[in-house]
Amino acid sequence: MTDDAIQQPEIHALFSEQQLRERVAELAEQISRDYAGKHPLLVGVLKGAWVFMADLVRRLTVPTRCDFLKLSSYGDGTATSGRVQLHLDLSTPAEGQDILVIEDIVDTGTCVLWLLDHLRRKKPASIRLCALLDNPARRITPITIDYVGFTIPNCFVVGYGIDWKERFRELPYIGRLA
Ligand code: IMP
Ligand code: MG
Repeated sequence: MTDDAIQQPEIHALFSEQQLRERVAELAEQISRDYAGKHPLLVGVLKGAWVFMADLVRRLTVPTRCDFLKLSSYGDGTATSGRVQLHLDLSTPAEGQDILVIEDIVDTGTCVLWLLDHLRRKKPASIRLCALLDNPARRITPITIDYVGFTIPNCFVVGYGIDWKERFRELPYIGRLA
């Protein structure tokens, strides 16, 4: 592969803006029903989940609190390093809260497994997981995802907040790298 091919990878659309909008609205409806009468603490996982969370939260009909934490395991490649690092923790107390974790994609499951354990130590009343994308073919650890946007074939995706080497987060759709 030439340097140019590496710099300009081909991206094939997987989910259009409209498909994302419709699915996010459906997820929001389901989450709003399930959390009726509650005041969940939405925990967005930076950076990948930021666009999804921004769209989702505006569709919810229950009041929320929003907080973020920042993890990394991927480095610059397209395969998980297996090591999870916490770069930023919650700034609001989580004890007794109904936490809904908002993830971009669950792939090997390494990050989410680490994250759920980290959050459980804060003694929330409940924890559920919402992931826009699920790539079950790459899973190495069993994970229950309470709310899934789309299940994807085994590929590397970008767009709608999700990056490859910090690129393509701004794409309004989700595509797979060729
Ligand atoms: P996991 O620990 O392998 O499940 O994945 C952890 C994180 O890696 C995800 O939350 C994403 O931020 C990132 N990731 C996993 N798969 C992809 C992908 O296909 N494209 C871009 N980032 C990904
Ligand atoms: Mg992520």
